[in-house]
Amino acid sequence: MKIFVTGAAGFIGSNFVELALEQGHFVVSYDALTYAGNRENLEDLPNEKNHVFVQGMIQDQEKVSKLLREHQIDWLVNFAAESHVDKSISGPAPFVDTNVVGTFALLSAAKTHYESLSGSAKQNFRYLQISTDEVYGTLGATGKFSETTAYQPNSPYSASKAGGDLLVRAWFHTFNLPTITTNCSNNYGPKQFPEKLIPHIILCALAGKTLPVYGKGENIRDWIHVKDHARGILTALEKGTPGETYCFGGNSERKNLNVVQAICAELDRVKPLASGKKYDSLIQFVTDRPGHDFRYAIDDSKAQKELGYSRQYTQFEDGLKDTIRWYLDHFDWCQKVTSKPGVKIQYDWKTLAK
Ligand code: NAD
Ligand code: DAU
Repeated sequence: MKIFVTGAAGFIGSNFVELALEQGHFVVSYDALTYAGNRENLEDLPNEKNHVFVQGMIQDQEKVSKLLREHQIDWLVNFAAESHVDKSISGPAPFVDTNVVGTFALLSAAKTHYESLSGSAKQNFRYLQISTDEVYGTLGATGKFSETTAYQPNSPYSASKAGGDLLVRAWFHTFNLPTITTNCSNNYGPKQFPEKLIPHIILCALAGKTLPVYGKGENIRDWIHVKDHARGILTALEKGTPGETYCFGGNSERKNLNVVQAICAELDRVKPLASGKKYDSLIQFVTDRPGHDFRYAIDDSKAQKELGYSRQYTQFEDGLKDTIRWYLDHFDWCQKVTSKPGVKIQYDWKTLAK
């Protein structure tokens, strides 16, 4: 298939592009290259001849329309988003602009393209919206989110994602655009921008900085390896029914404090501190995130039943060890992606490189 992937230079987008190319698809990667998007994420890909990169904003409907037409696109997958909850609290405007207005522009371009198609090209066309479990709000100690859970977003990030998703729903019901939406839990793995918990803690630890844990570290997230998520998305494109939504989770609920402690334990093993101290002595409990959702967990039995989806990373701690190894082996990447203008996270690279 010819796939148009927005947000392709980000964490999940770039892992998805790699998988799609491996599977023999043709991919047009489209990305604005914001602070979170990096051209390096799309280097050394398999089947490079089947890959084109174009820099652009999803809000640019004309540019997207032209590319969809020129490349006779079959599937459009929208990863592009402002994705970090903390940033949505300190500055929500770009979240509304990209996640809501940008989704509207993409849907408009997809609708025009879809209406110009006929025969099997029209039958095969899909618009897939990458969404999140955060649109469902928060869980208490029990229960899980599923496709039938009502949207109750609590942060500017999740509200903007919910806004985009509702537009997608309307474009299916009103204009018959063959849309699919997937809602996924917290991803981890290679190429995640180091503002997010796991890579941020790894790099802070290696730089000998304190490890910030919000509140008491009691909040719970359900961790899925990014490669399992990418496989789930491809399966939804191949086998999903237009108008449906599919949830993907990792079946790996962990308290934040336990995730941070697991990172510390692995670093103690593979890169012990010269001082003889343990990494967990660097843990510092800091002021909690406003509106911090307590717990996320996903029931993905619909995806398992209807798409035949299954996870390959069944042990979070093993996936976490691989991820730590990836960051240890890619300091140059870490340095490059955090050296862009506007990125506030800074590490002491001299300490890190030791
Ligand atoms: P990311 O921040 O790593 O990547 C986002 C990408 O989108 C970047 O490459 C950025 O340059 C690009 N982008 C931003 N604004 C754009 C615009 N206006 N036009 C074009 N490109 C733009 O994010 P991620 O973690 O890879 O998340 C990808 C998608 O998956 C997002 O839609 C996010 O909401 C969703 N999601 C993420 C997670 C997670 O745990 N990271 C979980 C579930 C869903
Ligand atoms: O659930 C899916 C969502 O997961 C995605 O939609 C978002 O795009 C993605 O950013 C992620 O959101 P979270 O807010 O859950 O991820 P984050 O890595 O920012 O934080 C994970 C948890 O760790 C959260 O409970 C807040 C906490 N945290 C985070 C940071 C950055 C800390 O305790 N300390 C930190 O320094």
